[in-house]
Amino acid sequence: MAKILCLALNPAIDISSDAEVVRHTHKTRTHNQQQFPGGGGINVARVIATLGGRCELAFLSGGETGKLLEAMLQPLPILERPFAIHDPVRVAYAVHETSTNLEYRFVPEGPLVTESELAPVINAVCESDADYIVASGSLPRGAPHDTYVRLAEAARARGARFILDTSGPALAAALSSAQMYLVKPSLGEFEAFVGEKLTHDLVGPVAQDYVRRGIAEYIAVTLGGDGAILVSSDKIIRVPAIDVPVNSATGAGDSFVAGIVWALSEGRDIEDAFHVGQAAGAAAVMTAGTELCRREDVLRLYGASTRP
Ligand SMILES: Nc1ncnc2c1ncn2[C@@H]1O[C@H](COP(=O)(O)OP(=O)(O)OP(=O)(O)O)[C@@H](O)[C@H]1O
Ligand SMILES: [Mg+2]
Repeated sequence: MAKILCLALNPAIDISSDAEVVRHTHKTRTHNQQQFPGGGGINVARVIATLGGRCELAFLSGGETGKLLEAMLQPLPILERPFAIHDPVRVAYAVHETSTNLEYRFVPEGPLVTESELAPVINAVCESDADYIVASGSLPRGAPHDTYVRLAEAARARGARFILDTSGPALAAALSSAQMYLVKPSLGEFEAFVGEKLTHDLVGPVAQDYVRRGIAEYIAVTLGGDGAILVSSDKIIRVPAIDVPVNSATGAGDSFVAGIVWALSEGRDIEDAFHVGQAAGAAAVMTAGTELCRREDVLRLYGASTRP
């Protein structure tokens, strides 16, 4: 089985709870509190573990919340590699208002990191023997926008396949100059980068242009409830979403990425892995709140997914 290294440069502790009504000034009494280790790279590692894969997880960890995060990850079948930073890991809070079925999400800006705190993570990638290196999530404050470009270079130099799921300036830097194996923007993230709205028919050809320029071997653009598009230099595959009861879209993108990487690490080809990703994304929307996806749902939905 191929080796996987997940990178989480801006992890979080995700706390969620329910309240009947959220009001200003008054105390909002909550119940059903749940807490999970979270943030892009951590979620990807958790889903890979759920699917039965083994991965190493390199993450920035500071303060008392960093210690808590490490303790929360400890029971999971993930090889933890915390990298110390000064500032504390952020705590994100979501309240589900049961009377309206609306969700209020509070996401702190998180730690400010220095170049010297980031350097050991870049070194770890330079020395890694992983076959797949997956970076997911936003960059922490203080990290240069081209941090993922540098990590992609380090991975390439080791002969590893680099997979990226990020947004904003970090995605823009990567789509401008990185050489990756796979990059997974959502439609909104891709549109923000190209600077225009794209019809589903246009996404494939526009993404293919980046593939042909050598930015990535594959680009997967996810369309939420409308499915996903996989682009290579000579092929555009579009698949509809798998029809499932929708509970919470939280974690669909992370589960999609984890499904693809896990399947690739098992030796499946990219198209097959793409279908596993679709199944994992759909399985994630079936679960409530910040819960990601369940293995049995992924395997069942994979069997039901549409082949082009
Ligand atoms: N409503 C849905 N029904 C079925 N599958 C879905 C649905 N929403 C998402 N998915 C699956 O999950 C994949 C990823 O979803 P989406 O495009 O919302 O990712 P994202 O925007 O990166 O999400 P995130 O908010 O987690 O970053 C989709 O391509 C699809 O396969
Ligand atoms: Mg996403």
